[in-house]
Amino acid sequence: MGGGKVTARDVMRMKGSRKIVAVTAYDYPTAAIVDEAGVDVILVGDSLGMVVLGLPSTLQVTLGDMERHVAAVARARPRAHVVADMPFGSYEPSSSVAVESAVRLVRAGGEAVKLEGGSEYSDRIKAIVAAGIPVMGHVGLTPQRHLRLGGYRPRGKRLGEARELLLDAEAVEQAGAYSIVLEFVAEETAALITRRLSIPTICIGSGRYCDGQILVLHDLIGLARESPPFAKRYLDAWSLIRGAVESYAEEVRKGVFPGEEHVVHAKERVEELAGGEPSGEDGDG
Ligand code: KIV
Repeated sequence: MGGGKVTARDVMRMKGSRKIVAVTAYDYPTAAIVDEAGVDVILVGDSLGMVVLGLPSTLQVTLGDMERHVAAVARARPRAHVVADMPFGSYEPSSSVAVESAVRLVRAGGEAVKLEGGSEYSDRIKAIVAAGIPVMGHVGLTPQRHLRLGGYRPRGKRLGEARELLLDAEAVEQAGAYSIVLEFVAEETAALITRRLSIPTICIGSGRYCDGQILVLHDLIGLARESPPFAKRYLDAWSLIRGAVESYAEEVRKGVFPGEEHVVHAKERVEELAGGEPSGEDGDG
């Protein structure tokens, strides 16, 4: 692994040796910041829809949206492994549609793709992997299916659902995925799946016994309007940014900003152009 680029293979090898640290990012500065902080994986998640684009759910996020944001993240040239989320509608119709979409996301700068679903999407995972693109699976709460699942409730609390999740996770592994996200799964069920799989589990809201953790950056830094109960907030960026902009507004209104250090001065007496009246024209630098 060393100090170089983190690959899908490196992420696989972390299972059993060290915890995988993953976080979402959606643009150049956030990708650069989280990379400097030393995360292993950056997911350009379709949570983009809510936390950045202000959409009601992930269902409205398009492949074009994802390509643009994956490209912005890739331009930060992170050391972390960059995973591009496949948005709703970009892999469901057929395996060939899934491969075409995954190729577009890799051309935009993704180094792997993530898609939601279990055994029902095994053939899509196989086809994308056969095209040479690493796939991260995603089971448990799958927000793109919230209409069918009846909302954003936790999964795997009862035996029947825990069994279904285990079978789905095993199907994802057998289809060739190199890792899998478990979202909002009961801790005991996530721990069982983690023990049964040979690929790493990266969890969000699924307890402590997974191979890694992922959080949505805007939940972690306090920039989301609403956050799920399982997210931990490490910063109140909303208040910090609002406070900075309030200070700016106050200084503009009081004439404190811009100060002498923020202005350039003309090198000649430009007032002469206005017949002696002072002018606001600037100089040539
Ligand atoms: O879109 C996203 O941010 C995700 C994470 C919640 C895993 O899929």
